[in-house]
Amino acid sequence: MNDIYRKSQEAAEFINKSFNTKFSLAIITGSGLDVLLDAYEIKSKIAFADVPHLPQSTFHKGEFLHCVYKGVDFLALNGRLHYYEGYSAQEVTFPIRILSALGLKYVMVTNASGGLNPEYDFGELVLINDHINLMPEHPLRGPNDERLGDRFPDMSNAYNKELRTRILKRATQLNISLKQGVYAGFQGPSLETPAEYKFIHTIGADMVGMSTVPEVIVANHCGLKVIAFSIVTNVCYPPERIKETSVEDVIQTANKAAPKLSILINDIILDLHN
Ligand code: HPA
Repeated sequence: MNDIYRKSQEAAEFINKSFNTKFSLAIITGSGLDVLLDAYEIKSKIAFADVPHLPQSTFHKGEFLHCVYKGVDFLALNGRLHYYEGYSAQEVTFPIRILSALGLKYVMVTNASGGLNPEYDFGELVLINDHINLMPEHPLRGPNDERLGDRFPDMSNAYNKELRTRILKRATQLNISLKQGVYAGFQGPSLETPAEYKFIHTIGADMVGMSTVPEVIVANHCGLKVIAFSIVTNVCYPPERIKETSVEDVIQTANKAAPKLSILINDIILDLHN
């Protein structure tokens, strides 16, 4: 993808014209987590395909939504683009560039994952505190446009520590069980073999999934503060806990776990607004 700066400005201009609202936060819904959006008034929608330079998602719905929760306006991306769909890492992360061009401050990413931490159970809610990039293509590969960000962005606080501390405290107050863990990004679309799950566990990851990592790298490149939640939809370690898993299983487990995530996210929406 060439000329990302200009293209993201054009895409943002299009969204601005349509929504005509200033946002500071966006939420990205992962597989089976579109139900999170049921809690909000949806003022207006734009399909990815209608946004200049943005391809249409082939798995998720792929829409920008102007949402309102208790008087707070925010953006939601109903679904995302994945590398396994055939898009480049730069295309997959173009929605994040648009959020930056729109002047947002925070992005809250959600996903479904396989759990490698033996303490995790089906439907576990995890606040991602770090990641391991095992994707075959880096979204910042190629010439760097300084208008977008630094050539060598620091990643020591990729999942914003101050926000994580606040969220953990709120989860305790709201009596919501919230673990913290490291997410490894694999390209998919096949799920991992038992040997791969063992490998991912061994290198220090608590979860594995097919998204999030490229988005978080780009969000850091352009100075957005990141919060990321994962719902563990299938348990993958130790090997005797692995069960055959279909995409319907993933979606069903994510759906079931969504209400507790919804309480926390809605709390954060109000907290970040104050
Ligand atoms: N692997 C990769 N992605 C996933 C998984 C998994 O086991 N579960 C949900 N998303």
